[in-house]
Amino acid sequence: MASYDSQIQNDVRAQAKKRRTFAIISHPDAGKTTVTEKLLLYSGMVRTAGMVGSRKSSTTATSDWMGMEQERGISITASAMQFKYKGAVINVLDTPGHQDFCEDTYRTLTAADSAIMVIDAAKGVETQTRKLFEVCRLRKIPVLTLINKMDLPGRPPLDLMAEVEEVLGIHASAMNWPVGSGQQFVGVVDRTSKQVSLFKKMAAGGAAKASRTEISLDSPEANSLIEEEILAQVHQDLELLEIAGNPFSEEQFLRGEVTPVFFASALTNFGVENFFDAFVDMAPAATPRIADRPDGEEIVVDPINTPFSAYVFKLQANMNPRHRDSTAFLRVCSGRFERDMVVKHHRLKSEVRLSRPHSLVASERNTVDMAYPGDIIGIINPGQFAIGDTISMQDGFNYKPLPQFPAEVFARIHPTDVGKRKAFDQGMAQMAAEGTIQLMRSLDELEFFVTAVGRLQFDVLQFRLKNEYRVETRLEPLSFECSSWLVGDVNTFRPPSDAMVVKDQQDRPVVLFRSPWSKNFARERNPDHDLLEMG
Ligand code: G4P
Repeated sequence: MASYDSQIQNDVRAQAKKRRTFAIISHPDAGKTTVTEKLLLYSGMVRTAGMVGSRKSSTTATSDWMGMEQERGISITASAMQFKYKGAVINVLDTPGHQDFCEDTYRTLTAADSAIMVIDAAKGVETQTRKLFEVCRLRKIPVLTLINKMDLPGRPPLDLMAEVEEVLGIHASAMNWPVGSGQQFVGVVDRTSKQVSLFKKMAAGGAAKASRTEISLDSPEANSLIEEEILAQVHQDLELLEIAGNPFSEEQFLRGEVTPVFFASALTNFGVENFFDAFVDMAPAATPRIADRPDGEEIVVDPINTPFSAYVFKLQANMNPRHRDSTAFLRVCSGRFERDMVVKHHRLKSEVRLSRPHSLVASERNTVDMAYPGDIIGIINPGQFAIGDTISMQDGFNYKPLPQFPAEVFARIHPTDVGKRKAFDQGMAQMAAEGTIQLMRSLDELEFFVTAVGRLQFDVLQFRLKNEYRVETRLEPLSFECSSWLVGDVNTFRPPSDAMVVKDQQDRPVVLFRSPWSKNFARERNPDHDLLEMG
């Protein structure tokens, strides 16, 4: 067993405790980018917010953050951004939600210890939020909810709370409550302390911190500073919440059973600092991870007492087509990572030297010398890493394989020039390894299908096959809408007439359905089989 001295352990303990590694989950336009900007503003990492203004014209998934790289002290990888917030070390994972919604987005959530769910107060719970939340629930990731855009006309807060509970099936517990809404949104009141934070917009708008005054809800100042009608509504809502609301329990939150809810306007900075402070206070530090031992027994890997270990949760191809290498993004799960360390690569049963760890700051690569549980590091990958690989100082365990998510878009694909078959197969294998697409075959192995979580992935696939592998392809979209992994005897499974049973890359049977209705029908018709939502 590798030596792991107590000095290092103490260092790891102190550092791991400070880490908050999380992803922001939301539907496009709910305010994820704005919330991230404001986190930087309130952390003191940037002096003014609003530098990512040109993001809407951007085409790559990571460009949301690219405007931020000029500011010193922020390390942006294509996968995570690290900075300090009031003594905590924040690792925000990038979950591209705009055009690039894909399996990567889901997998990234496996590297998070918690998630912030941003909801637009006018729109409520939207589709992508629901899908991403589902992954958090399955992985029991604690989720904090931020109801954003309170400065615009929105739905009544109580309705929004009820929607979170009904649509997502999780208990919601308000930690604070809005004082007014729309143009009259002036502050938030903490439900426990009954302290009101009242805000005033600054001349610079949301680019500068909002001015904040703290008063007690029951003080005479509250009567003079808050309009009578608004104050009466706050009292009424708070009373109602006391009677009918869900109590908050930290244990339940950490188990992913209740989500604490906060209100804010990220654009005007009203309530954002209250939220960030609560987040740092409540969100878990680097959490223990489950792994399998070779004998099949599950173990919990302690982040502090176990020497360095990590797993690959994302591969990103080199943007430069002349270089075929890619970057493997690793989540540090335990111990201390040091540059140049030699570690065991479990799948390859070999040792690898982690000599070029980096965080990407725009096009520059910054070398990482040390990293701790919760941190994300990028390693140049000349082909030795695949998604889900475990590396560590000690062997004897493997982190659980990363889940696969059911595809929602389906197509047949062929090279237009049959002579390019070899390059085509190579490119497809690489893209499948990176998680851009999944490959499927008919049960008789005569037909090949490609499936993905989002339609954009097909465009990415064809573009990259052409640019990196010089293969033109023809893609025929198929009219399936959803899929499930089939558990049970394939021969006795009775699919609906419009469904198709295929095999995935691990030879597991997968059923493709033309509609959710057809999937439900299949479920009812085959009570002895299971249709899994995640593989
Ligand atoms: P996203 O990353 O989740 O897609 O959302 P993003 O932060 O880009 O916000 C989407 C739009 O909503 C932006 O406006 C942003 O300024 C606005 N927004 C975010 N939070 C708030 C809020 O609390 N109140 C109000 N009123 N608006 C908010 P845009 O016009 O589309 O872009 P931009 O030109 O302002 O960048």
